[in-house]
This record gives sequence, structure tokens and C-alpha cells, in this order.
Amino acid sequence: MSKPYDLAVRGGTIVTAADRYRADIGIRDGRIVAIADEISDAAEEIDASGLLVLPGGIDAHVHLAQPTSDGTLMADDFESGTRSAAAGGNTTVLPFALQIKGTSLRACVDEYHAKAQDKCYTDVSFHLIISDPTPQVLGQELVALVRDGYTSFKVFMTYDDLVLNDAELLQVFEVARREQALVMVHAEGHDAIKHMTRTLEDEGKTAPYYHAEAHAQIAEREATHRAISHAQLTDVPVMIVHVSGRDPMEQIQWARKRGMKVYAETCPQYIALTKDDLKGLNMDFEGAKYVCSPPPRDEDSQKAIWEGLRDGTFDVFSSDHCPFFFEAKGEIGKNNKKAKTSFKWVPNGIPGVETRLPLLFSEGVSKGRISLERFVALTSTNPARLYGLYPQKGTLAVGSDADITLWDAGRVDTIRQENLNHGADYTPYEGIQITGWPVRTILRGNTIALNGKVVSEAKSGRYQHRQVSDVYEGVVREVE
Ligand code: URP
Ligand code: ZN
Ligand code: ZN
Repeated sequence: MSKPYDLAVRGGTIVTAADRYRADIGIRDGRIVAIADEISDAAEEIDASGLLVLPGGIDAHVHLAQPTSDGTLMADDFESGTRSAAAGGNTTVLPFALQIKGTSLRACVDEYHAKAQDKCYTDVSFHLIISDPTPQVLGQELVALVRDGYTSFKVFMTYDDLVLNDAELLQVFEVARREQALVMVHAEGHDAIKHMTRTLEDEGKTAPYYHAEAHAQIAEREATHRAISHAQLTDVPVMIVHVSGRDPMEQIQWARKRGMKVYAETCPQYIALTKDDLKGLNMDFEGAKYVCSPPPRDEDSQKAIWEGLRDGTFDVFSSDHCPFFFEAKGEIGKNNKKAKTSFKWVPNGIPGVETRLPLLFSEGVSKGRISLERFVALTSTNPARLYGLYPQKGTLAVGSDADITLWDAGRVDTIRQENLNHGADYTPYEGIQITGWPVRTILRGNTIALNGKVVSEAKSGRYQHRQVSDVYEGVVREVE
């Protein structure tokens, strides 16, 4: 006679965004079907005693196989990127489908699906990036895509090939409100950055470090306030992504105090790095390894980010995994000839999908800065709610997908490039000691990674059509 459960995860401590308790989990057909004191009648058992049993990590901000305007090659495709994600305790990632200016948004989305097809170890779902908000895109393509389950999209306030002006931002925000999509904003003031870049270059300040000065926190603060003002004018919820420090964070708090629906994301680079890392060894090109936008700030900003992680200013903690090679043949990595002439040519972005959860756990939970429940909220439950995946993902409940990460809170080890699974040839977090590591990642009831290595031969990740974000009130959730 067949057993009632395919798998039981036994003896661990279950942690959700709300609770912490000892129980077993029964799984059938990839779903959680029972949570009880004792589940003994399963075809297979995993002994989780001494471990934490957490909802699988959801990394809501990653870039995989994304084309670049200057030919720089992204170091991760869907295969290596999701392998790295799985090894780091994630069961779902949300990369961006980037619209290339002058092309159809739908065609770009189709291309991304082709790139991801049969390549993913984790589940995936795409945000869109709107770079060319033509009447056709805003009036038809975007509307149809949101209705097809692409319920979030990102807009940029900087980068020559992506920046939208204020009129365009307002138009995109209007569509988001009408269609109930969540807009994600890269808030850095383009003209201020360009002005600072010119000034620094004129003074001969071209090393990677000056990227952090050109991308001043003032420019991020101003753009954050402008994005919030546009959102207020158009009455739409917004998510400010990769918030780097105190000044932009205060703008978000300012808006929240006035009752606005402004949501916020921060990332590992803003708790584990500072702008001094961009100095490299002695203002040399090693600093390029840390160039990302917004850049890491100073210790006061790190302190502020911790306050925001603790007090709820931040809803989501994502990696902003945007991996480039440092050394690469043929001028396709960070260490290219042009980049040596000015920081402005250094590809922006750093790898981090595999180290996101260990860094927040170690620096946050193990050091007593945030609770376990808050860790789960920031890294799984809130991303699921905000991006329309809840309660299928982001929690441990009867009916939810059996996406589970087993966590050894006592394991101590050091981040080393040689142990990571990403495609990049370096990690900006080299040498950081971590207390607390994911030891088993389970996707819909199947173990996909064990002790930092992927063990599943099958690339069983599925594309996830998403529902409307929880930020829109009155939305009724259902598990299909
Ligand atoms: O430097 C970064 N963050 N690159 C990735 C693209 C983005 O703006 O998120
Ligand atoms: Zn961005
Ligand atoms: Zn990004």
C-alpha cells in the first residue's frame, strides 16, 4: 500500500515570518500536506533534528544572461545562476527581462523564456525592465504582459541606455496603477551623476573608487524623493530597490509617515561592504570588483540599513546579483582596457545570489541584530507577498509548495570563491566568516542542493506565473 506522504522532514524547528515551533512536515506531490507533532508514515524521511526548517529563499532581484550595451558578458546564465542560487538556500529567483530600446517588450520576454527553458535548478519568474515606453508598449504590450502574470517591472532614473525622464516615469506609473502592477525604481539622479563624473574626470580622478563619489548618496536621495513624489501624484505603490544608505532611507520613512505605499529593498553590499572597498589595494583596479550602483556607502549608512532592516523600513533583502568576470579574455569583463581609462566604463554589478542568505543570517541573526522571523520575512515571505507568489511560496503552510531550506545555525565557515557555484571569477565577500549556513535546499519536495553543492541532475525549476502584488488591497489569494 502506498504511504500517505512522499517525504517527511522530521525533528527540526520550523520558522516562518510569524512563528517558531517544533514540528514535522509531511509532503505529497511537491506540496506541504501536513504539519504535525509527529509524521512517521512517509516513503522517505529527512532528519532535520538540530536544524532550522525555513521557507526556501526567494531572491527577488537578480540579473542572469542579461545583454549589455557595451558587450560585457554577464558571468551567469540561467544554469549557473540558478545553481548558485540553489546552493545558497534559494528555491525561487526573480531575474529581469530587459527590453532593448527600439524592440518589442513581448519579444524580449520570449527571448528570456528561451534562455531559461530547461536550464533552471530553482523556480523562476521574470520582472520586466521598461527602457522604451512607447505608446505601443504602454498601451498594449505592457498591459497584456501584466495580465499574463508579469506583475512587476523596473524603471531606471539613470544609465544612458535605460534612463526614463520624468514624463515617461509618470506615464509608466499610470499604467502600473491601472493594471495593478508593482513598479520597482532604480533611484539615482542621472544628471547629478553625469555632472559628478565630468568633474572627477577633469580632476584626473578616474580610478574605480571615484565611482562611489560620482554616484553620490545625494543623487540617490534626490531621485528617491522624486520617485516618491511621482508615485504620490499618480497614486501608485512603488518599490525603491537597492537602497544603499541613510539619506534615501529617510525619504522612504518620510513617505511612509504620510501613509504612502512606498516599499523598500536593500542588499548585502550595503551591510557587508563600504566605499573604501572600492579603493582596492592602493586605489588600484582591484576596486572594480566592488563597483555597483548604488555603491556601498560608509559605516553610518551600514548602521542605518541595520536600523531599517530591524524596524520594518525595509521589506525585502535581495542580492542584486549582477555578475561580471573580473579577468576575461576579449575585453568582456571588468578588467578591460576602456574601464582603466575611467571608472565610468567599469561594468556596474557584483555577484551575490549564493551569499545573500548566509551574509544576512550571520551578520543579522547570529549577531543578534534581527530575529529569525524577521530574517524569513525579509528573504522569503515578503518577496513572495510583494511579487504575487504568496502563499504558494514564501511560507511553510498546508497547501504551499514544499520549498524548504534546512539551516545549520551553528556551522562556521568562511566565504571563498573556490567554494561558490556562480560563474563569476571572484566574490566581493571573499574571506568573510559566516556563522549559520544552509545545508539542504528542497524544491517542491526534491532535494536540489546539499552542503553548498547542487545534487539534482534534473534542472527541475519551473517558470512561475505570478498574481497581483499584495500591495493592492482586496486581492484574494488562492493556491492553484
Ligand atoms: O550595479 C548594479 N546594481 N547593477 C545591476 C543593475 C541594477 O541597477 O540593478
Ligand atoms: Zn538598479
Ligand atoms: Zn539590479
